[in-house]
Order: sequence, then C-alpha cells, then structure tokens
Amino acid sequence: MKTHTETLFRPFPFGSTTLWNRIVMAPMTRSHSPGGVTTPEVAAYYRKRAEGGAALIITEGTVVDCPGSNGYPAVPRIYGDDALDGWRQVIEEVHHAGSAIIPQLWHVGSVRQPGMEPDPSMGGFGPSPILHPTHGEGGTPPTALGSGDIEGVIEAFAQGAVNARSVGFDGVEIHGAHGYLVDQFLWEKTNERTDHYGGSPENRLRFATEIVAAVRAAVGADFPIVFRFSQWKMGDYRAKLVQDPQELEALLTPLTEAGVDVFHASTRKYWKPEFKDSNLNLAGWTRKITGCPTITVGSVGLDSDFLGAFMGNGAGPMSIENLIERLERDEFDLVAVGRALITDPQWPTKVQQGHFDDIKPFNPEALATL
Ligand SMILES: Cc1cc2nc3c(=O)[nH]c(=O)nc-3n(C[C@H](O)[C@H](O)[C@H](O)COP(=O)(O)O)c2cc1C
Repeated sequence: MKTHTETLFRPFPFGSTTLWNRIVMAPMTRSHSPGGVTTPEVAAYYRKRAEGGAALIITEGTVVDCPGSNGYPAVPRIYGDDALDGWRQVIEEVHHAGSAIIPQLWHVGSVRQPGMEPDPSMGGFGPSPILHPTHGEGGTPPTALGSGDIEGVIEAFAQGAVNARSVGFDGVEIHGAHGYLVDQFLWEKTNERTDHYGGSPENRLRFATEIVAAVRAAVGADFPIVFRFSQWKMGDYRAKLVQDPQELEALLTPLTEAGVDVFHASTRKYWKPEFKDSNLNLAGWTRKITGCPTITVGSVGLDSDFLGAFMGNGAGPMSIENLIERLERDEFDLVAVGRALITDPQWPTKVQQGHFDDIKPFNPEALATL
C-alpha cells in the first residue's frame, strides 16, 4: 500500500493549543474504572495512544453528576474528588507525551434499566416514557424527565465541563450521538413530549442547545466544545435525524450559535455519501453548512464497521487513500480512529512512516483488556 500521508500530519489549532497532526482517538468505553475512578492502567492506556501519535484523545464516555446518568459497570465519572484526581494523572501522562485530551460528557438516558450498575435500584430517565430500541419486550420504560429534572441535567453537563477545565483537560466533547439522552431528545421516536422540549424539530433541539449554552457560559469563550452527533442509534442503525442538507442545517445552526466549536459527525463508514447528488460525508456536509471544523470517523484503516466488534468480529487493515483524498480537499479537518488504535497504539506512527504492512488487524479479544 503506497499512500502519501503528509496531509494527516499537518498541525491544527485547538483552543489554546495546537494539535501536531489530524489524528484523534475516538471515544471508546472500556469499563476499566471501578467505582467510576480511572486507574494508573487507564492512564497508561491513554498515554500509549498519545505516544503512538494520536494528537487529540477523546476519552471514553464519562458520566455527569445526576441520577441515572450511568448504565454500565466501571465507567468513569467526571465528578467527585477521587475521579477528578484519577483524571489529573491521565491528563498529565497524555500531555507529557505531547497530545491534547478532552473528556466525553455522557448521560445514557433511557438506555438505563433497573438492575444496571452502579445503582441497581434506579431505573432510566428519558424525554418520554418510551422503551429504548435496545430493550425488547419486558423492558421497563424510563421515567420522563420533568422540567426541574431537565434543568438539573443541564447543570450537571455544565458542572462536568467546569470540572474538566479545573483538572487540566483541553476542552470537552458533549455526547449528543448514538441514541443516548441528548440524542433521545433529538429523535422523534424517543421524544413525544408536548412541552417546549418536544413536538417540532426546533423544540426537540432545545435540550441540546441549552446544554451547549450552559457549558459555554460556565467555561468561557476559549475552552473548545466539541459536539458529537449521529444519524444512527444504538438499536436502530438505519435511523435518520435528518433527511437532507436543509434539515441538517436546521439542526446544526442553533448548536453553532449556542457555542459549539467543533462537530464530530459519527458515521460507521467515513466514505459513504450522506445525501444524494454529492460525495460529501456527514462531516463534509457539516463543515460546509456550519463553517466549523469537523471530525470524521468510521472504519478508518479497517475493512468492516465497528458493530462487528461487539459480536466478536475482527477487522483487517484497509487502504486510507480515500480518506487522504477527502482530507486534501478539506472535506473535514480531523480524523477519529477507534478500533485500529485499540489493537495498535502505534497506528499513527506506522501510517506516518508508511509501514502499513506492520499495522495489526483489529482483534476483538483486545476489548477484554486495556
Ligand atoms: C469498544 C467501543 C466502545 C465505544 N464507546 C463509545 C463511547 O463511549 N462514546 C462514543 O461516542 N462512541 C463510542 N464508540 C464508538 C467509537 O467512538 C467510534 O465511533 C466507532 O468505533 C467507529 O470508529 P472505528 O470504526 O474507527 O472503530 C465505541 C466503540 C467501540 C468499538
């Protein structure tokens, strides 16, 4: 495989820092933080990806401080002195390796079911009492958030961002994707509210824009806010929030006005055109519409998408020629790499040196350990 990769290794401004290249580590839940606190092993895991050349690391989802925000074991928190001390160590090691790092702020919403960790007695919360598509018959519908609860969640995101800034993170990413709480408000199938958070697309967008605005007000102008969104949802991979560029514009413009700096357009295969009559992918359309920097993602360097990873499937290396061409055309600014960095922390270095044959294939067994 012969690929000219210089374009991936141009610097890019990010808040008060400069990324030395365009490669971002995608957020990936690893469930190795017992009690919500990252360990020295977690710090070493991120440090290795920084040393391998990922210029920006987006951490696994970190849950914000409000009831029901989590639903999985050993997921880190972005609140509490113990958790924040853990993050300090992670940040120090990543910075020492020359990379930037931001946490992904997360609330799982109605994906949560009673019996789940960390408090089995607690059920899930969502915009409406609608069973999430990840749960079959027999699941327990979530409790609809009241307006006071919504204020509490917004405040928890803002406080999470303040905490992130106080421990030395370089920005934050708000998880507005994949069918979790923020996305549950955006999606008509999970949001049947009749107040001003539901009904029209503008109303369904209100929760997300209020979170962005609250985070912006809390952290000030110079702290980057990345917003991750997706068409696909956990449990419904064909779902679409928007059908055409006009609807995408209606979604993104208020978010930009609320304070988003960078959009992270989550797709499973970056080379797929998003709408007809254009080759642009979702990140490409997002950049064109908003003028904001964008991050693309989805099977970079791999020959099958990430859903297989959860069914025990591996993925082989694939040419990144198409990615480079798109980056050269400035279709997007940054490239997030997920599974490839789990199995091969040296992926960026190997790409830079043209050692494509040395890149390790993705092996799902790698998910069991850090
Ligand atoms: C093990 C694993 C955990 C993930 N956890 C998260 C997460 O916490 N937050 C998120 O937004 N996406 C998560 N994702 C999705 C990835 O960020 C990424 O979008 C996806 O893996 C596609 O990139 P890839 O094809 O390069 O792996 C996860 C993916 C994997 C494989």
